[in-house]
Amino acid sequence: MFKTSVFGLGPVGLVTAVCLARKGYPVLCVDSDVKRVRQVRDGAPPFFEPGLAEYLKHSIETGRFNVTTDPSSNAQSELSYITVGTPNKSDGSIDLTYVKKASLDIAKSISESNNPQIVVVKSTVIPGTTRNVIKPILERELGKKNGTGFFLCSNPEFLRQGNAIYDTEHPDRIVIGSDDQEASSRLERFYLNYYSSGNSKIIKTTFENAELIKYANNAFLATKISFINCIANIAELIPGADVRIVADGIGVDDRIGTKFLNAGLGWGGSCFPKDIKALISFSKSLDYEPTLIDATLETNDKQWQRIAEMCKGELGGLGGKRIAVLGLAFKPNTDDLREAVSIKLVRRLLEEKATIVVYDPAAMRNTKDTIGNTVEYARSSETCIDGSDCCIIVTEWDQFREIPPNTFVERMRQPFVIDGRRIYDPIRLRAAGVRLLAIGLGPEDSNQRQNT
Ligand code: UGA
Repeated sequence: MFKTSVFGLGPVGLVTAVCLARKGYPVLCVDSDVKRVRQVRDGAPPFFEPGLAEYLKHSIETGRFNVTTDPSSNAQSELSYITVGTPNKSDGSIDLTYVKKASLDIAKSISESNNPQIVVVKSTVIPGTTRNVIKPILERELGKKNGTGFFLCSNPEFLRQGNAIYDTEHPDRIVIGSDDQEASSRLERFYLNYYSSGNSKIIKTTFENAELIKYANNAFLATKISFINCIANIAELIPGADVRIVADGIGVDDRIGTKFLNAGLGWGGSCFPKDIKALISFSKSLDYEPTLIDATLETNDKQWQRIAEMCKGELGGLGGKRIAVLGLAFKPNTDDLREAVSIKLVRRLLEEKATIVVYDPAAMRNTKDTIGNTVEYARSSETCIDGSDCCIIVTEWDQFREIPPNTFVERMRQPFVIDGRRIYDPIRLRAAGVRLLAIGLGPEDSNQRQNT
């Protein structure tokens, strides 16, 4: 079995590592964060991801899963993944500090080895990075060329947090970019062996196309969401309109498709915001103004603010009002708060002097670390809404869908719900006596109500 290494134990790196171990590959995990290394070594996932704890436990039990801060042990490996973070600088451009460090660490660790290693860039990097930044570091340090001394490929990752293990084990495509045919072929052979069922489409192309495919993928998905949010905002002004029905109606057109048409408070997370900003900054550096992608970002930045306004308008000011916020993670099945709209919304409501009580099934600890005691922390969704003047659904966890409409009526000071993720049936909630506002839901159509 190929000996593998993974540099960077974020969601992509750690999931990649445990999935490799599951398939029987020996894995060396390298991360400079001592605390994280200790946690992973002890079998404690540093973040919540369904299935990860079990996969990590299994990895450790194989006895061939090592976790270290010392990159030199990588000398024995045949394939190294670069999975470190690529944050934005303050001007939105990409910060390649960690990518450069990982490249240098890999180069130094294999400089004495005679066995040319496959080096695989999974981190999201702007087009040109693998050719102009990573390859020169390896060539300079090793004194050898790509295709002989090492085999370098760009291999972007498309996994979603919350579904990361499934996505890693069932990729819809594998994109391999290189400027060396032998490098592409070696990585392709590795994956054919890894995914023995062979259902994934393999796309072999240049470094730059592989890098741009990743950005285009995320930018397209973010644009799709901003588009449906824009239609939602129009629908809210039309009595009788409902964006959910409109999304279903356009989704059956298979040129459009049903996925990523859930209107809501906007997209967050560690990827879309960062990648969209980096793509905009990169385009501008090439003297191209990416108007459409600018609009995608601007639409998203305004979307959560509409909810704050909705809440304030409906309650006639927020001073002294008690607002229950259900859901904090940037999406369900994760505890990740990075660029979560919840935090922006909560901060705005606090500025308006509201009292905020929050609940999330997984992200409470991260929320405490982020906004401390500025808000009250509830133990359940029910206690969160107790005595509140408004309940805002921010993240669509399944357990919130199951709250019976009567619970809002019985436990809130006034039963007023803003459904920011469209998880409730408006007719059911209103029939129970709940005042409901929802993203993309037009004012109640009085004619329709009389007729039904
Ligand atoms: C995203 C991409 O989907 C992955 O393919 C990619 O690998 C990853 O970024 C990355 O670059 O690493 P992720 O950030 O985990 O994955 O989450 P998504 O499921 O894409 O959701 C992103 C945001 O869009 C969330 O805030 C979610 O609530 C929002 N969203 C999603 C909507 O508002 N509406 C939708 O219909 C779908």
